[in-house]
Amino acid sequence: MACFFRRSIAVKLGRTLQHSEDAFIPALTAVPVFKKQQTADFKLCIGTLRAKGILPSGGDIQLQTQRLANQLERDSVVEEISAGPGVINFKVNRKLLVQKLLEPFGTGEKDRFGLNSELFTTLKRGTTLVEYSSPNIAKKFHAGHLRSTIIGNFIANLKQSLGNNVIRMNYLGDWGMQFGLLGAGFGQFGCQDKLKQNPLQHLFEVYVQVNKEAEHNEDMKQAARDFFRQLEQHQSQAVSLWQQFRDITVKEYRDVYKRLGIHFDVYCGESFHQDQAQEVVQQLQSQGLLKTTEKGTGVVDLSPNEDMSSVCTLLRSDGTTLYITRDLAAAINRREKYSFDEMIYVTDKSQVNHFYQLFKILLAMGHSWADRCQHVPFGLVQGMKTRTGEVVFLEDVLDEARARMQHNMSRSNTTKEMDDPEDTAEKVGISALIVQDFKGPLLSDYKFDWDRMLQAQGDTGVFLQYTHARLCSLMQKNEREEAAAFDPSLLVEQTSVTILQHLLRYDEVLYQSAQDLQPKHLVNFLLKLCHLIASAHRELPVKGSPKDVAQARLQLFSGACSVLANGMRILGITPVQKM
Ligand code: ARG
Repeated sequence: MACFFRRSIAVKLGRTLQHSEDAFIPALTAVPVFKKQQTADFKLCIGTLRAKGILPSGGDIQLQTQRLANQLERDSVVEEISAGPGVINFKVNRKLLVQKLLEPFGTGEKDRFGLNSELFTTLKRGTTLVEYSSPNIAKKFHAGHLRSTIIGNFIANLKQSLGNNVIRMNYLGDWGMQFGLLGAGFGQFGCQDKLKQNPLQHLFEVYVQVNKEAEHNEDMKQAARDFFRQLEQHQSQAVSLWQQFRDITVKEYRDVYKRLGIHFDVYCGESFHQDQAQEVVQQLQSQGLLKTTEKGTGVVDLSPNEDMSSVCTLLRSDGTTLYITRDLAAAINRREKYSFDEMIYVTDKSQVNHFYQLFKILLAMGHSWADRCQHVPFGLVQGMKTRTGEVVFLEDVLDEARARMQHNMSRSNTTKEMDDPEDTAEKVGISALIVQDFKGPLLSDYKFDWDRMLQAQGDTGVFLQYTHARLCSLMQKNEREEAAAFDPSLLVEQTSVTILQHLLRYDEVLYQSAQDLQPKHLVNFLLKLCHLIASAHRELPVKGSPKDVAQARLQLFSGACSVLANGMRILGITPVQKM
């Protein structure tokens, strides 16, 4: 594993510079493979050592680099040490590189490759609550909800892989005036049969109709207000209709999320915090934080000079609460219930200010744990459409991805016989969606493009799946012997070395993703891995090679396949065996 080499180099550095070896671990990185003939495996950045005060900062940096490189002693693990511009390069013994990296794949540890890295010891472990997806009942499931769903799932998977206890939470928009409208309008436009047959569709239709009606019909507006008041006062008839809408929606969503390979530990929602929201308001009042404006609204002053130049409204003049009031109550409640160490909210960037205010108010109330709450914002997606038009439901996107993928597969001459082509098309289609979404920085907007994301070549989810399936079939066709049985000296061609050098980076890539919660590091790592595997298929044939060579190559392919599959799973992609 990468740790073994990093540690060996750190020991040397510690000895030479008379410093604790641990300090060097974060300054040592595996060299990313750009060109094929790369000799260096690790590099040490002298600037980092200067910044840490391990090396003196003045003087000629190149001289310093050169001097240190000369001082370090070569041995059977680290064979070559050379100075580059501001860095020292290390080349490790090739046979050891093969052995140390491929060792874990012969054991039950293959799915933990890279996950026990000592890089992660500095990361805090504990209970992480991730809140994501969070659609609104009876409203559209838009591209922002889709992004939140897959990004949140990635963050939860990553945190879990790195040893955290993760709570996956869906915070439904299940409260507010929309339920007044829905409740009031259901009698007129709704139908119980349709509700049972196709709940999400029907609730949405009714909601659209009621809204249209309410535009010109004062009675309808009044009825909506009445219904919502009844709800807020827990009147049983109103509550039971609301409950029915909610139950049916959750049941339906559960099934659709399953298609995405996603589940939630908790479905909560704004409704749960209705009464608690009023309590929060009282608390703020008694803490002297809530001010009443001339208009009669209740606000918290967030301006630095306390001149009310920036306020956050928590209470309407009629005494009802708002989105942020419910979020305050929800956060406090979650902390009490789950005593999380950190909480992560995933929504589009339009809510940056909302969460900024939320955390600020929590801190003002004395909840210091709000410092460990984080909002992960993402950019907007343009043009997410299906053949039939605008996307209204999550199901629409999944159906479209599956149909398009199935069409492509049926036209491709590499497609294999499959037990369940529809299921495969679905999984591959979803990986295309995910990779398109995860390639860039989360904060960037992007244009949704079915044709581009579904291409079999190029940097797509289809390419990841195709590479995985091809490796599986190679493994199936060729019987592999016990891992211990292969000879590492048979894997010294540059093509093998390049793959191994790339695998050295895996724990660093996960570490980077854990730091900034951006999936792009992992996605780009896996795409690069697939390109390297493609060359390896050409240059390191298994078929027709002498048995011992074939065995060694299969070990390499099998290791690469495990890392690819593990990485895909963290991204939220289910690797397929055949396609
Ligand atoms: N339901 C909200 C929406 O669709 C997202 C909720 C985000 N989470 C939160 N705790 N406010 O915009």
